[in-house]
Amino acid sequence: MAWLTTIFGLLTAANLARSAAVPASTLIDDTPLPLIIWHGLGDNYAADGIASVAELAQEANPGTLVYVIRIDDDASADRSATFFGNITLQIKKVCEDLATHPILSTAPAVDALGFSQGGQLLRGYIERCNKPPVRSLVTFGSQHNGVSKFQACEMTDWVCKGALGLLRSSTWSSFVQSRLVPAQYFRDLTQYDQYLEHSNFLADINNERVLKNKTYEKHMESLEQFVMYMFEDDTTVIPKESGWFAEVIGEDITPLVDTATYKENWIGLKTLNEKGALSFLTTPGRHMSLSDELLTKVFKDYYGPYGRSFKKAGEAVNWQEEL
Ligand SMILES: *[C@@H]1O[C@H](CO)[C@@H](O)[C@H](O)[C@H]1NC(C)=O
Ligand SMILES: *[C@@H]1O[C@H](CO)[C@@H](O)[C@H](O)[C@H]1NC(C)=O
Repeated sequence: MAWLTTIFGLLTAANLARSAAVPASTLIDDTPLPLIIWHGLGDNYAADGIASVAELAQEANPGTLVYVIRIDDDASADRSATFFGNITLQIKKVCEDLATHPILSTAPAVDALGFSQGGQLLRGYIERCNKPPVRSLVTFGSQHNGVSKFQACEMTDWVCKGALGLLRSSTWSSFVQSRLVPAQYFRDLTQYDQYLEHSNFLADINNERVLKNKTYEKHMESLEQFVMYMFEDDTTVIPKESGWFAEVIGEDITPLVDTATYKENWIGLKTLNEKGALSFLTTPGRHMSLSDELLTKVFKDYYGPYGRSFKKAGEAVNWQEEL
């Protein structure tokens, strides 16, 4: 891997002087940036499905180092952590893992892929830490603006059932907010005051409280690409338009561009949109029905070598007016 000795090597503190003397353009080679993947609810970092996604990423951009984010090295504990835990602590751990990883920590940037809840968790990583910084963030069926209903569990998934049973009983208690992952991105506008007061994750990461964290905005604005995929027939995520950061009350869908989050640029999404770095895309099928073809296209369009250029996204508008 050439970049390990050239680009990344030059960026270490000891070599800063040298890096200033050598024009960056002579250092760029074809080695792709590393890719970090954050899996979804009920999945684990060692699962076959994730391994095959990693393989596809390496086929699309040969030489890609793929790191699958984990909360625990034990696969079943890692799965459990998708249901249980305090997201603040989970993100803190991921920040430490990435910042101390021997290769990732020396990379000038990484690309990121978030599946379902992994998408908003990656946003948490970016906003709070971003070391190494993320260049392209692609999310599939994520819950960027929360869920207003909890998804159903498989009949035999007792971990899931136990978690959701507790959730329904007392979403806003600090007991639940510090222990159950989906409760921390539950967002219901009919309970907005309680959400603002008690949400342990989403209200903070979306900068919805009176005190805005400018670091969150700055980190998001540093993305070169933020691509949100929504599954057209998603019945797992309610509302599915949360995958596009929309706000939904009953039948009423407010697209991101018409929300205060966007208009007041709470987390830099307006800036991203205006520089052509924000994409709203759909793919047919139910939650997480992904084809190899689509993934390969995404990997080629948004990941790859450091310093590559990207096609500008069309400016997002109110898609309901477009129809
Ligand atoms: C904003 O977020 C950064 C990164 O997590 C944190 O270090 C800082 O303390 C936060 N600022 C405020 C005012 O909460
Ligand atoms: C989650 O952990 C953080 C860090 O320890 C803590 O400040 C916060 O209160 C916890 N959240 C809840 C809801 O207990």
